[in-house]
Amino acid sequence: MRGVFKVKREDGQHVSDFNSQFEARKQDHIRIALSEAVQTRAASGLDEICLLHEAIPDLDFSEVDLSSTFFGRRSPVPFYVSSMTAGHPEAPKINSILVRAASRRGWPMGVGSQRRELTDPAAAKEWRDLRRECPAAILLGNLGMAELIRARLEDIQRLVDHLEADAFFVHCNPLQEGLQAEGNPNYKGSYSALERVARALSIPVVVKETGCGFSRQTMERLKTSGVAAVDVAGLGGTHWGRVEGYRNPAGHLLHESAKNFADWGIPTVQSILWAKEVGGDFDVWASGGIRHGLDAAKVLSLGADRVGIAQPLLAAALQGEEQLDHLMSRFEFELRLALFCTGQNHYRNWKQQKVWRWKSIETS
Ligand SMILES: Cc1cc2nc3c(=O)[nH]c(=O)nc-3n(C[C@H](O)[C@H](O)[C@H](O)COP(=O)(O)O)c2cc1C
Repeated sequence: MRGVFKVKREDGQHVSDFNSQFEARKQDHIRIALSEAVQTRAASGLDEICLLHEAIPDLDFSEVDLSSTFFGRRSPVPFYVSSMTAGHPEAPKINSILVRAASRRGWPMGVGSQRRELTDPAAAKEWRDLRRECPAAILLGNLGMAELIRARLEDIQRLVDHLEADAFFVHCNPLQEGLQAEGNPNYKGSYSALERVARALSIPVVVKETGCGFSRQTMERLKTSGVAAVDVAGLGGTHWGRVEGYRNPAGHLLHESAKNFADWGIPTVQSILWAKEVGGDFDVWASGGIRHGLDAAKVLSLGADRVGIAQPLLAAALQGEEQLDHLMSRFEFELRLALFCTGQNHYRNWKQQKVWRWKSIETS
């Protein structure tokens, strides 16, 4: 099915089939991503980490400062909304709720994959409208590696221009592509494509996974790719092998195989530790299973520069803007509280002073 579908699309005869299949898939993703069964929380490594309590912080809570920089631009918090949805009828409404809250609170926001515009020029309206809604928002464009390899530079530039993107995410999802009936599991030429795009675009390029993390070896190779940041998007939250598995009925090859790959990936904590060891000339962004402000504090204490959240923000946005705003403010409050209780007024101090330990009791 995969091969047949692709040939038809390249002939240009079935673009409308392709777009309606795309819409249906994106809607499946939202529905399934909200179910507990696709979460791998226990695997993130976050529960294995404790922050060191400081009984006498010598600090006023009001002095705690979350300000950060986003590629040289001031940003009031080190959070961001991870890339989610785009390119289907419900997407503008969801993204509009997300972008208003993100813009109000100063969180940068990634949009979902912009691939639809590669085959449907009318899709550009979605980005233009979003940008018009919040001109000051920090927005990141998005395209999958499988599309990046084949796309022309001018088409990628158009995605950036129509969104007026401040940075551009390239997402890696080999497990998902492999478990998706209509997927495109061809990553041949990824590194040169990434280098080409990172050099050509005038905005920072951030490479991200989608819940399976990056190995030390991959991050070593990324050192010369020209990317400005690596978003580890590790194992521990939404799992795209699981999501694709549930798109097929029990007994289907992809459903059954997905069960065996249900915990595939590199835990978020492991991926961050390797990223710091590798020490590339890129920022390290942490996401994948970040479910509250204390999780965020833990990954920042490991040395991450920025923290992303996807599924919980989507769930809150679907309940309404107030619920979303409440959740975002809770993330911020809990990070402040963690800073206060480690005796620090800024998370950058955690880079100089180790404030975390593994959960098991240390005897020396
Ligand atoms: C409904 C949904 C759609 C997503 N679509 C995209 C996408 O288009 N591009 C992308 O880079 N990541 C996408 N992601 C992956 C997230 O950006 C993130 O890497 C992943 O869900 C892990 O974060 P979480 O555990 O906080 O959900 C999507 C996530 C969700 C929940």
